[in-house]
This record gives sequence, structure tokens and C-alpha cells, in this order.
Amino acid sequence: MIVLGSNSEVAQAFVEEVLQRDGNLEKLYLFTSEPELAHKFAQHLQVKYLQESEIVMLDLTSELNFSRFERVESSLLFCAVGYLGMDSEEGLYDTKNTTRVLDINFSRLIPLLTHFAEKMERRRGGTMIVLSSVAGDRGRQSNFIYGSAKAGLTAYLSGLRNYMHHRRVHIMTVKPGFMRTKMTEGLPLNPVLTVTPSRAAANIYTAYRNKRNVIYVLPVWRLIMFVIKNIPEFIFVKLKL
Ligand SMILES: NC(=O)c1ccc[n+]([C@@H]2O[C@H](COP(=O)([O-])OP(=O)(O)OC[C@H]3O[C@@H](n4cnc5c(N)ncnc54)[C@H](OP(=O)(O)O)[C@@H]3O)[C@@H](O)[C@H]2O)c1
Repeated sequence: MIVLGSNSEVAQAFVEEVLQRDGNLEKLYLFTSEPELAHKFAQHLQVKYLQESEIVMLDLTSELNFSRFERVESSLLFCAVGYLGMDSEEGLYDTKNTTRVLDINFSRLIPLLTHFAEKMERRRGGTMIVLSSVAGDRGRQSNFIYGSAKAGLTAYLSGLRNYMHHRRVHIMTVKPGFMRTKMTEGLPLNPVLTVTPSRAAANIYTAYRNKRNVIYVLPVWRLIMFVIKNIPEFIFVKLKL
């Protein structure tokens, strides 16, 4: 299994979900921008599950050297890479923030996902599970740089799923809604609309086993986003969302 964004609590909970339900993995690659932190998780897996893993450095704020990933292959990839950046109020005119948000969530991530998708196509099988966001469903004033990157990611995954359909590679798009993780630390989240990383991982695992294409981790988000997407633009433009 390949994990992108290994220090994400959701990614870690998903790895544990797989280990508990399916048993040990032949190979586990933990891609991370913070290897020291990922090392602690690797040690935890070693102690609790006797699962070996290999840590691979990944920093999407700089140019990727794909030759470093040449020998990395798997039939299962889980991508929890994401970066919220500053909200629109403070970050909109900060070009460094905008570039960073676009690089991590979209422009440097897409070639990396394509790299692994091609390998799956060559071995004629595999599953890619990628966390996008409801923020990509409609641009809202609060976080539309992040939202536009996630919208691009969602569109890419839709196209890739379509392209891979007869090539035995399954692409699953996950729209988490709110999750209580380090990304949302300090944000006032409505508890009814928020999941823990372990609950999210369990729901994602079930959806993966059922070969779902697009999921909202909490089903209520599908309804919320249906309403938000269908508000006429002349009303939407006046709302503070
Ligand atoms: N939390 C929410 O409410 C929420 C809502 C909607 C969507 N999401 C999405 O769900 C996914 C998981 O989010 P999370 O809540 O678990 O957030 P998180 O803890 O911040 O995890 C995101 C991960 O992205 C990786 N990352 C960040 N900057 C990177 C960089 N420069 N290069 C490479 N990797 C980088 C980091 O992994 P390493 O430290 O291992 O590099 C980080 O742990 C993300 O795609 C996020 O956008 C979250």
C-alpha cells in the first residue's frame, strides 16, 4: 500500500483499518513531508502489527523528482494530502499562500497521482482512494482558493475514473465534510456534521470494499451540498458562506 500524507490521522486510521481487517501488507510506503513524525507511526505499526514500512520523503512545495519513486508500486493507494492555507479574508492577496495551496492540493499532486495510476494500469489492477473536499463542490467566499484546488482535484479524479474504468483501476473520490484533525484544530465545527478520523476511516474502508466511486463520509453532506450547489447565483452571491 502507498500512503500519501502519512501523518494525517485519517490516513493512519485507514492503514490500521486495513491491517486489522485484511491482515499484514506485503509492502507499505509512507510518503511524508515530515519523516520524523511518520517514523513514530512506522514504529507503532511495527510494535502493534509487526508491519514493516518504508518512509519516502515527499514535499509538494518543491519540484518532484519522479526517478526517486521508480521502484514504488502497489495495487492500493490512499491519498490524504491536503493543505488548507489561510482563509480568504487574510490570504486572498498573499500569492505565496495561493501558490502553496494550489501546489499541494492540485498542481504538484496531479502528476504524482498520474504516475501511480499509470503503474496500476500497467499491472492491470488497483485502487486509488483520494481525499478531496466538499469545498470543491461550489466556491464560497470563506475558502475558495483551497476550494478551487479541490474542485480541480475532484474533476481530475472523475476523468481518471472514467479513463480507467475498462483498465481495472478503480478511483474513489472521498469528500470528508468536517473531520476533527490537526487541519481543523481550533475551528468551531458543528458536532453533528463532524466525524473523528477513525470513524471517517471506517466509513471509507466500507466504501472502498463496496467499490463506491464518490462518497461523502457523512451522508448528510450530500444533502447539504445538493442544496448549496442549487442555490441560484443571484441569491448565492449575497450570502456569507
Ligand atoms: N479535516 C477536515 O475537516 C477535512 C475536510 C475536508 C477535506 N479534508 C481533506 O482530507 C485530507 C486529510 O486531511 P486531514 O484533516 O487529515 O489534515 P492534515 O492532518 O493536515 O493532513 C494533511 C496531510 O497532507 C500532507 N501534506 C501537507 N503539506 C504537504 C506538503 N508540502 N507535501 C506533502 N504532503 C503534505 C501532510 O502529511 P505529512 O505530514 O505526512 O507530509 C498532512 O498530514 C486532506 O486532503 C484534506 O484536504 C479534510
